[in-house]
Amino acid sequence: MASPRIGVVGATGAVGTITLELLAERGYDARAFASARSAGTRLPFGDDEILVEEATPEALGAGDIDLFLFSVGTGASRELVPIASAAGAICIDKSSAYRLVDGYPLVVPEVNGGRALEALQRDRIVANPNCCTIPLTCVLKPLHDAAVLTRVRVATYQSVSGAGAQRMEALRAEPASEHNLVMDWSWEGDESDEESKLRAETRKIMELPDLPITATCVRVPVLVGHSEAIWAEFEEPLSAAEATAILSESPSVRVLRLPAYPTPRDAAGGDDVLVGRIRRDEAADNGLALFLSSDNLRKGAALNAIQIAELLLAGSAVA
Ligand SMILES: NC(=O)c1ccc[n+]([C@@H]2O[C@H](COP(=O)([O-])OP(=O)(O)OC[C@H]3O[C@@H](n4cnc5c(N)ncnc54)[C@H](OP(=O)(O)O)[C@@H]3O)[C@@H](O)[C@H]2O)c1
Repeated sequence: MASPRIGVVGATGAVGTITLELLAERGYDARAFASARSAGTRLPFGDDEILVEEATPEALGAGDIDLFLFSVGTGASRELVPIASAAGAICIDKSSAYRLVDGYPLVVPEVNGGRALEALQRDRIVANPNCCTIPLTCVLKPLHDAAVLTRVRVATYQSVSGAGAQRMEALRAEPASEHNLVMDWSWEGDESDEESKLRAETRKIMELPDLPITATCVRVPVLVGHSEAIWAEFEEPLSAAEATAILSESPSVRVLRLPAYPTPRDAAGGDDVLVGRIRRDEAADNGLALFLSSDNLRKGAALNAIQIAELLLAGSAVA
């Protein structure tokens, strides 16, 4: 497809604005959609500006867009994605609406990119994973291929941009003396929805339905960039040096060696998942401890979705 007609739905949001930035950088044209609240406003698009249109069912169902990138909430996605799909468009959805629904591919291109093409045989809807799941699977998959994962424990340090543009504004306005760690998730018994999503999505993407995973997810007073401390156990021995060598060759991963280590500030604005502190886990037989940081708005959301889109556009051109 020479010049795909792309629609960004949720264009005014934290993820949507980065999506427009990345599309313009890559030379694509786009139309911007958001709610009635921001219809008629204009957003930067490369050296130009772009008009924000209201994401009505009529506009999304008109059949004049080849591919939609959705970054609206789950409720809005459930309403609008089927309309765009029925009109023939490819839809990449960043909400939770389709991630764990059987039959819908949940894709990290470096990990299970081939799955994306399955959507072309059905209703062309692909789900983009949670912003912690994406970097976690980028790091776990190559290690699993080498030594077979048996158990994962993870603690997250998630920036406020993961909760949207309004939360970024709130942090900017908050005095530093009031900054705190919070767990402002929805609770499912003892566990948060964020923690259960991280487990279920990782299992689906890696096609390891029984992999034991426990997560503790925490929101930290950082604007952009999610970090994760990971303890991974394996069937086969895997030394820190071997894991370092494997990850150094892995796509979208950049290994940092001490005295350098990943931080959200270093990850923010970049495309790579930064991984470091790779060391033997003294509390496990075949275990490694690692630490990663990644830009949740880019690889954790907008960039991953555009990479999926490019797989599908190439696939639909061939099909
Ligand atoms: N932030 C992240 O790191 C991240 C990562 C992965 C996935 N996601 C997912 O991406 C989605 C958006 O996240 P965000 O952080 O960008 O949120 P956000 O900053 O709050 O932006 C939400 C966007 O959705 C639009 N919107 C809301 N309701 C709508 C409706 N009924 N119809 C059309 N547009 C509507 C808003 O438009 P108005 O400005 O007009 O209100 C805004 O453009 C969520 O599902 C989130 O879970 C976010």
